[in-house]
Parts: sequence; structure tokens; C-alpha cells
Amino acid sequence: MALFTWNDSYSVKVALCDQQHKKLFEIINQLADAMRVGKGNEIVSKTVGELLQYTRTHFQQEEALLKRANYPQLAPHQEQHKKFVADVEGLLKQTREGRAANSIQVLNLLRDWLVNHIQKTDKAYSDCLNAAGIR
Ligand SMILES: [Fe+2]
Repeated sequence: MALFTWNDSYSVKVALCDQQHKKLFEIINQLADAMRVGKGNEIVSKTVGELLQYTRTHFQQEEALLKRANYPQLAPHQEQHKKFVADVEGLLKQTREGRAANSIQVLNLLRDWLVNHIQKTDKAYSDCLNAAGIR
């Protein structure tokens, strides 16, 4: 069951980013499912590892587009990316060490990221990128 569903309200009006955000929703749903049904730490940490890897790739590509468009809010945007990566790294370390993740805490982190980061911070770049011909 998908806990987080991508819909148009998440669109940042840049095809590559929307596509990568959809993929992130998928991985996050896999993680939520794994935790919900009480899958072992091994599965949970494998999924967290995938989330971390995909997130890094996505952030790099998104930041490259922001640079290309001379986006004025690049630095604070990168700060949010860094913070999220650090949080997921912490979670990965924790699950790899066999310490069970607090699923409420993890889901709150992911929800905060989806809702606040994509819906506010990411959506703020739409006009700037579109004006630079990036769609
Ligand atoms: Fe972003």
C-alpha cells in the first residue's frame, strides 16, 4: 500500500525532477512498507541504502540544473539537501548496526522532506528554471 502518493501538487514543472521525485516516492513507499510489516533490519537498511544512493544522484542533478539557471537560492537549497542526506546517512548507520529504526520518527522525517522540501523549496525554483528554458 502506497503511503505517499505523488500527484500534480508535487510537480516542480521540470520533467527530470518530477520523474526523479516520483522514483523517490516509490523508494520511500517501499521503506514505509518494510517498516510497517516489521521486516527485519536487513531489508530496512537495504532500502535505506537505496534511498540514500538515489537521493544523492537526484540532488546532484537537481543542483546542476539550479546552477545552470543561476538560481539565486542555490546555497540555502543545497543546505537542505545536505541536511537530508546527513539524516538518511544516520538512519543507514543505525539500521546497519542492527539498531531498529523508530518508524514514526523515520516516517516523519520522510514526510517532512516530501511536504516541505518538494512542495516549498523545490517548487520555488520552477519559474527560474522555466525562464532559463529548463522544463
Ligand atoms: Fe531540492
